[in-house]
Amino acid sequence: MSKGKINVIDREGKLHQLEAKKGLVLMEIIRDADLPIEAACGGCAACATCHVYVDKDWNNKLNKIEDEEESMLDQAFHVKENSRLSCQIEYNDDLDGILVTLAPE
Ligand code: FES
Repeated sequence: MSKGKINVIDREGKLHQLEAKKGLVLMEIIRDADLPIEAACGGCAACATCHVYVDKDWNNKLNKIEDEEESMLDQAFHVKENSRLSCQIEYNDDLDGILVTLAPE
């Protein structure tokens, strides 16, 4: 299984570098590192509590937003142009080093 790193800025502005494994979604990597991400729906694009902002340099490397994610983001708070649901982004080698920021709760 291929491994890499993701960079996550928490709500206090602290940067965390987390080990990432291919096949996991970013939400799972963040949650497994005990960072404060609620992920209430468990990754079904149904709660928006895994909302993150993706650093603009990485946006073009992401999978495209599917309808379910888009409609959930429409109902979320603090949405920005670079908002994504981290449960809908599966880690792969292209995302090694990606930088995301946890959105406010
Ligand atoms: S965990 Fe609920 S939308 Fe991502």
